[in-house]
Amino acid sequence: MSGQDATAGQRSTGGQRPSSAGGRGRFLTFEGIEGVGKTTQVARLAQAMADRGIAHIITREPGGTPLAERIRDLVLTPGAESVPDSAELLLMFAARSVHLENWIEPSLAAGRWVICDRFTDATYAYQGAGRGLAEDDIARLERLVQGPRRPDLTFLLDVPVYIGLERARARNSRAHGNFSAADRFERERVEFFERVRAGYLARASAEPARIAVIDATRPEDEVAARIIGELEARTWIS
Ligand code: TMP
Repeated sequence: MSGQDATAGQRSTGGQRPSSAGGRGRFLTFEGIEGVGKTTQVARLAQAMADRGIAHIITREPGGTPLAERIRDLVLTPGAESVPDSAELLLMFAARSVHLENWIEPSLAAGRWVICDRFTDATYAYQGAGRGLAEDDIARLERLVQGPRRPDLTFLLDVPVYIGLERARARNSRAHGNFSAADRFERERVEFFERVRAGYLARASAEPARIAVIDATRPEDEVAARIIGELEARTWIS
């Protein structure tokens, strides 16, 4: 399905040249707790790419293809049955496997940059640090599903938990008028998100070359400029 718009959430820039350097597309991911402004910054980066004539796709996890979006619904929608942490972990990787095979890998192979709203760092942060599942188990699934595939660069948008949750709740009530719109994760307690945030920051400390921590309490324009600055510093764009 490479090159097609598989879901409403996907966008492909088929008319543009494969990449600015005439070489490979880069795999960029955005991470952070709820309410850090990922969606806005993903859109701004995509616009910056379009302005430079760089072919790219925007996608997200869990989801990004029709089947993976169905898995997303399964794992995010609150229901009567309890979802064991192990089932949650496996569903995240099931969605990822489908997404990689049908959309991310073909896009990279075609020379398109992939801008992905969340990827496996989210699994380490949410299922690992948040739920308490073993890092080794996550690493095993990561190898099974991804082989050597890792993001080239990850933007970790960081804000204190109370700010992120406040923004996420305001967004939900604007969109749906009440709290019942919250998904299974948004219903979690503050302590859960404190663990998730700490998990993300620990990963960033362990992999500083890949994960750029961006202070997302700063104004939107400043955050967008920092993101572009990280790409320019690597001479990936100019
Ligand atoms: P989103 O609303 O930012 O798109 O993310 C959906 C939720 O899924 C968010 O609360 C984080 C969670 N998530 C995980 O728990 N593990 C994962 O591996 C991924 C990709 C997302």
